[in-house]
Amino acid sequence: MTAFHGSRVQGPKSEVYAELVRQAKGQFDGERDVIANAANLSALLAFHLEGLNWAGLYFLKGGELVLGPFQGKPACVRIAVGKGVCGTAVATKASVLVPDVHAFPGHIACDEASRSELVVPLVRHGQVLGVIDLDSPRVERFDVDDQRGVEALAALYVEACAW
Ligand code: SME
Repeated sequence: MTAFHGSRVQGPKSEVYAELVRQAKGQFDGERDVIANAANLSALLAFHLEGLNWAGLYFLKGGELVLGPFQGKPACVRIAVGKGVCGTAVATKASVLVPDVHAFPGHIACDEASRSELVVPLVRHGQVLGVIDLDSPRVERFDVDDQRGVEALAALYVEACAW
């Protein structure tokens, strides 16, 4: 783990995610704890990505998603597989990019302010362990560059932790 001296990166998304990967590697270095690394990952996401109102993780436990470390308003604790954006990402084992949550049937509104969402599954050896969830009060806040960037962070996080 390295001390955090960062300021938010201004610039193209490629640079923002490159910096996020660099800092996540520093935070995870020598640390294998699932919760501790998730806590720092949610803090890094909330700090470096502009325009978010929620950034955090859910973990698959006993067949449902259970809230993990996050930054933002208190959120729904349990989400069934197949429900909402998070449960859809688990059921499909694929990232779900929602440009407008009002147009996503079954979206679970934890924070009424949320208007767009990106959910990336945490997958290890083909098994879903949970999700990273990002919400924004702005419609179309997330695009495929965000998806690829967060997928890279998800892979790094899964690899760094002892499951
Ligand atoms: N909107 C999510 C629920 C989790 S909150 O956004 C933190 C969903 O539909 O799965």
